[in-house]
Amino acid sequence: MSEFQLVCKTTDIPEGASKCFEIMGKMIGVYHLPDGFYAIDDPCPHAGASLARGCIEGDVIHCRIHYWGFGIKDGLCREQEIPVDNVNTYEVRVENGDIAVSTTPRQR
Ligand code: FES
Repeated sequence: MSEFQLVCKTTDIPEGASKCFEIMGKMIGVYHLPDGFYAIDDPCPHAGASLARGCIEGDVIHCRIHYWGFGIKDGLCREQEIPVDNVNTYEVRVENGDIAVSTTPRQR
């Protein structure tokens, strides 16, 4: 069973924004999309930039350094021509205005 870590209030991340948190020693980005909150590994698999500081387009985050895209909901890399790792996704729970993120990644 997953454990969850409280990270912030829902009001701390406006819709269309993202924020990065350290959870059990890992940097994880939390994203506020129109249908809810999502969490993925923050370091870009290409060269380690913070994905949460990138540009959100729909449900894809584009890294600010070389613009590679990753699905915010599924963690899959959107670059078809370049072999690159996907990123882990994490369950997010919202209760009483608090956001909590699972400390373990979802199984793929
Ligand atoms: S560091 Fe993210 S695409 Fe290069």
